[in-house]
Amino acid sequence: MARKKIVAGNWKMNTVPAEGVELAKAVVAGRSEVCECVNFIVCPPFTHLSQVVEAVKGSDIAVGAQDCATEAKGAYTGEIAASMIAALGCKYVILGHSERRQYYGETSETLNKKMAQAYANNLTPIYCVGENLEEREAGNHFAVCKAQIEEVVFNLTEEQFANLVIAYEPVWAIGTGKTATAEQAQEIHAYIREVLREKFGALAEECPILYGGSCKPSNAAEIFAKEDVDGGLIGGAALVATDFLAIGKGF
Ligand code: PGA
Repeated sequence: MARKKIVAGNWKMNTVPAEGVELAKAVVAGRSEVCECVNFIVCPPFTHLSQVVEAVKGSDIAVGAQDCATEAKGAYTGEIAASMIAALGCKYVILGHSERRQYYGETSETLNKKMAQAYANNLTPIYCVGENLEEREAGNHFAVCKAQIEEVVFNLTEEQFANLVIAYEPVWAIGTGKTATAEQAQEIHAYIREVLREKFGALAEECPILYGGSCKPSNAAEIFAKEDVDGGLIGGAALVATDFLAIGKGF
């Protein structure tokens, strides 16, 4: 079963528009050095989504947002609707990133609404799950990921699920320089797929599950070699075009 291979860059709250455009152009310029089999996605801040869509035009690089609103439109000061993101030419939206869960109180309840908005606007969600250090040390990482999947992904229709990307990101590995070992990643990715199989059967074999957390050129190949790891959601290393592309060479 050949699952989609994905390398997605989560730029977080980094780059002003000119820097973002320069970064996107550098990714486009180096893209041909990496296997065509890799699907690259870049997720800049909202403020320059449209300029980055323009900068990658003509290439096979897709653009995603880092979040979207729970509601379709209306009096929600400061929020960005999924329809606005889609109208700019974005194809993806990251939902449930641990930083949003941790700093902005996102729960399964809000994420169910955001997922519905994403699908209503033909955006593919990159739904993030993962445990924190305390949960890992207590041996609760399986239960935490299972709950994050059951409470949100299990509410999807088969058609929606067929258009979903999952990212497993252990919170203790995000931006810390600490990476899960390839074996730890495989263990939990295989477990997540097993949970998905309970609900969606054979469709679970086709769902890309990305690893995220201090993924870099030096460790990507080992992690991506694992059977149930279908790519990466990259933070820090996505801000340097050569590193981001080199991670794609990990396949
Ligand atoms: P990192 O972030 O690669 O900087 O650890 C990954 C993420 O949070 O998506």
